This record gives sequence, C-alpha cells and structure tokens, in this order.
Amino acid sequence: KYLKQDELTQECKELLSTLPTEKGWVASTFYKYQGFWHPCRHLQGILSCQKHFQAQDTDIILVSTPKSGTTWLKAILFALLNRTRFPISQKNHPLLSNNPHVLVPFLEIKLYLEQENPDLSSIVSPRLFSTHMPDVSLPKSVHDSQCKLVYLCRNPKDTLISLWSFTNKLRLQEMGTNSLEEASERFCGGVSMYGPFWDHVLGYWEESLKNPEKVLFLKYEEIKEQPKLCLEKLACFLGCPFSLKEEIEGVVDDILEICSFDHLSKLQVNMEGKLPSGENCNLFFRKGEVGDSKNYLSPEMEERLDKICKEKLDGSGLQF
Ligand code: A3P
Repeated sequence: KYLKQDELTQECKELLSTLPTEKGWVASTFYKYQGFWHPCRHLQGILSCQKHFQAQDTDIILVSTPKSGTTWLKAILFALLNRTRFPISQKNHPLLSNNPHVLVPFLEIKLYLEQENPDLSSIVSPRLFSTHMPDVSLPKSVHDSQCKLVYLCRNPKDTLISLWSFTNKLRLQEMGTNSLEEASERFCGGVSMYGPFWDHVLGYWEESLKNPEKVLFLKYEEIKEQPKLCLEKLACFLGCPFSLKEEIEGVVDDILEICSFDHLSKLQVNMEGKLPSGENCNLFFRKGEVGDSKNYLSPEMEERLDKICKEKLDGSGLQF
C-alpha cells in the first residue's frame, strides 16, 4: 500500500528536492520539513493531510511521539469513547479481534498516505484519529476548530531504546542493524523519526499550557503510575466522565484491564496478525516497562541524554 518515490505527487517531489537530507533509520532518506525529520512517504502523507483534512469540532486526535505508547493509548481511547456502543464485557469487543492501529487510524501514515484525499464522511462522530505530526505541521483546521488533542510522550531514554529496537526490526535483513551508539548519537542530534524529540514535546507542552481545554499533555510513565487517575482525567477532558454507576460497576478498571500490555499482547490478532500496511502486530508490543533503557544504555549515553534533556527543557517547567 505504501507509496514509492515515483508515486509521490509532483508537489511533493518538488518539495523534496529543496529540503535538507540525512540518512534514515530504516531505509529511505530523511527530509527536514518544517523543522522535523521524515522519510519521503510520511512527508507525502503530511502534505496531503495539511491540504485536505478538515477537522470537526467533535474530533479527537491522539498525537504522540513515536514509541511513546501510542498503541496503548489508542486502545484506551477507543474503549473509553465507545463504551456504550461496545460494552467492555462484550465477548466480541472490537479490541479482541483488531489491533488498535486498525481501530484508530493514523492521519498521515495511513489515511492520507493511501489516498490523497480520502472520504472520511462515513466515520461516526466523535471521530478518533491519530498522528505523530509536530504541532507546527498540523493542518490549519485542527487549530481553527474546537477539536481536542490528547498528546502522549515518554521519557527520552526509553523512547530511544524502543525506537532503536523497533526500527532495527523493520530493516531488511541484508541491511544489518543500526548500532545503539549510532542510534543514540542521531537521536541526541535530533535526527530521529519526527525528531528533534525535544522540539516535538515542547511544541505540545507549550500548547497545553496556553490552551488546556484543547490539549491534554500525558506521559507514558504517568499512565503507568496512576492509570485510574489518568483515565478519569482523560474522560473528563473529552467530555465523557465516568458516572458514579460506572465507577461502582468497575468500568474504569475493566477498560484498563482490556487495554493492559499482558492482555493485548497475548491476543491472537496481536501475536500473529499483520497490519494492512504489512508490519507484524507483535512489533508494537515489546516489554511495555518504564526504565528498560537502563539495561541497554552505557553510563556515558545516559549522561549525555540527561544533559541534553536538561538543557533543552530548561525553564519550560517540563521534566522527565
Ligand atoms: P517498549 O519498546 O519499551 O516495550 P508505540 O505504540 O508508540 O509504538 O510504542 C510502543 C511501546 O509501547 C513499546 O514499548 C510497547 O511495548 C509499549 N506498549 C504497547 N502496548 C502497551 C500496553 N498495552 N501497555 C503498556 N505499554 C505498551
């Protein structure tokens, strides 16, 4: 389904020839567009989305940095927003037979990648989409409408390890793997998928401070630590708080249970299935832990990342 270079629109081809480039993490070249690094097919999706996507006031968009737990939050959002239509206890709940990426499609790396201007009119409201696009690249209608953004990020060290491991699994065997030294070097230098990481995070952090009604800023670690509280906060933010009856009946716990790493990662669809775009679903479930980077990063790498993180986030009020 993915576009090849010769399937890019003329507009995209022309743009590519003007952009700074770097070596990509998986295969193709990275291009720097609006301050962030993308492979060319993602860029095509971003351009089409910027041009054609019309946000509605009731839309909910999950925005995340890659490898921050997007799959998890997609599942949670889907279960939360559809809890009346699909009660969690239902034997044929869609999450039991569909990978969360199928239920909550990416705008630029699915919908607007497969078609330049897809027809989204049959999707029932509230529409739930996701994206990794940085704030500066969001389609204008997203800013102009009252749609809500749920932003998810994760501490940079675990993000790096998850990204390094994920992209190595996507590389063709004959290409070999990227060393952690190289991956760490490039991540620190800002050259990673949708990087620089810090600019991505800071863009949405600032938006969430300016406009807390529109942007809810969440961290993977926070959800891990206080899942119930986060889910309740999410429900209030999205205008669908849990009723007392639901609280008593344990709906919050049920949603967290159905979306847990243990539950989702052991479902047949997620162990053996493939996404329509070809990736094995099990690639999205590795360990699902906080602090796993300790098992990989050398003290020097950790120190460097800590230092850069401190410098970049200095004065923002944001910490990892
Ligand atoms: P690790 O590689 O550290 O295990 P994304 O969904 O944004 O691609 O992020 C993938 C990361 O989220 C992986 O982290 C993956 O294991 C973790 N993950 C996937 N499903 C999860 C779940 N239900 N609960 C917690 N973490 C989950």
